Amino acid sequence: SKGEYRHYMLKEIFEQPEVIEAVLEGRLSAGSVLVESFGPDAQALFQRARQIHVIACGTSFHAGLVARYWLERYAGVPVQVEVASEYRYRHPVVPEGTLFVALSQSGETADTLAALRFAKTLGYIGSLAICNVPGSSLVRESDVALMTRAGPEIGVASTKAFTTQLVALMLLTLAVAKVQRGDDHRDIVEVLGTLPGLCRQVLALNGQIEALSQAFAEKQHALFLGRGAHYPVALEGALKLKEISYIHAEAYPAGELKHGPLALVDSEMPVISVAPNDDLLEKLKSNLQEVRARGGQLFVFADENVDITGQEGIQVLTLPYVHEALAPLLYTLPLQLLSYHVAVLKGTDVDQPRNLAKSVTVE
Ligand code: M6R
Repeated sequence: SKGEYRHYMLKEIFEQPEVIEAVLEGRLSAGSVLVESFGPDAQALFQRARQIHVIACGTSFHAGLVARYWLERYAGVPVQVEVASEYRYRHPVVPEGTLFVALSQSGETADTLAALRFAKTLGYIGSLAICNVPGSSLVRESDVALMTRAGPEIGVASTKAFTTQLVALMLLTLAVAKVQRGDDHRDIVEVLGTLPGLCRQVLALNGQIEALSQAFAEKQHALFLGRGAHYPVALEGALKLKEISYIHAEAYPAGELKHGPLALVDSEMPVISVAPNDDLLEKLKSNLQEVRARGGQLFVFADENVDITGQEGIQVLTLPYVHEALAPLLYTLPLQLLSYHVAVLKGTDVDQPRNLAKSVTVE
C-alpha cells in the first residue's frame, strides 16, 4: 500500500535509504567488496573480463551509462553500453574476453531478454544479470546474477530500481577492481556505508524542491545538463520529467551546448544542472555562464562546498558533500523529486503515465 504517501512513486523515492542499505547487506566486509556475493562463478568470470558490454533499456540503460565511467576509472576495464533494441539488430563485434552484462528491473523486458539470448551466440565469456526480480527470465538465463533488492516497484517511473542498480554496479566495479588489480578502493567502500544517511539528508530537501517545481508547471520544455558520470544522471532526470509530467525535456553533456542546443536557450527555457564538486566543475560553471548570458533560467543542484551563489536567474539548491564516486547516486534524488512535484502540479497520473507500461514484454 501507499501508506502515508499520495503516490507509489513518492513512497518509492523515500524508500531509497532502506533499499540501498539492503543492496549492500552482506556484500561488503572489512573495507572490501565480497566477490563471492556475486555467486560461486563470479571470481573466475571477472578475472577473465578484458572488456564489458552492458545492455539495457530506458532507466536501466542510464544506470549502465553511469557504470561505464566507474568501470573504466576504478577498474580500468573498457566498457560499451547500448540500448537492447539496437544491440540485438546490429552485428556486434565481440573481442575475446568480453563479459556481457544485462540490466533490468523486471527481468522480463523483451528486448533485453532477446539481447541476452542473442549474446549467447556471440562468444562472450559469460553473462551477468543485475536485476530486481528473483526468478525472472533474465536471472534464470544468465550465468551469474546479482539481485538489487529494491522490493516491488509499482510506479511506472523507475526510481528506487535505478539507484539500487547503481549501487549494484558500484559493487561490480569494486569486484572487478579487486579481482584484476588487487585494489580494494577502501575510500569508496567506506562512503558506500554512509550513503543511506546522505540520501536521507537529500530527501529532507523535499519541501524546497516542491517550491522549485512551481517554475516548471507552465513550461513546455526543459534542458538538463551534466558532465562526466552526471551526464547520464541528467538523461535520467529528463526521462523522469518527460514520462510523468509530459514536458519535453532533453539532456546534454554540458560541453555540447555550443554545438547546437544553446540556440534553444532563452528566458523561457529552464535549465537544470547537476554540479557536484568534481574535476569538471570549472568547465561546467563556464557552460552555465553561457546559459545565463542568453537569459536562460538556471536551476543548479550543487555541492555545499561549491562556489555558485544564487542570483538573478540562478537558483541554487545545495546537497551535502559526497565522495565524487558516489555523487551520481545522490544527485539522482532531487531530480526524481522535481519531476514528481511538477507532475503533481500538472495533475497527471503520476503512477500510471499515459501510453506506458511498467514492464515492456513485447518488442
Ligand atoms: O524492467 P526494465 O529495467 O528492463 O525496464 C526497462 C525500461 O522499460 C524502464 O527502465 C523504463 O524506462 C522506466 N519505466 C522509466 O522510468
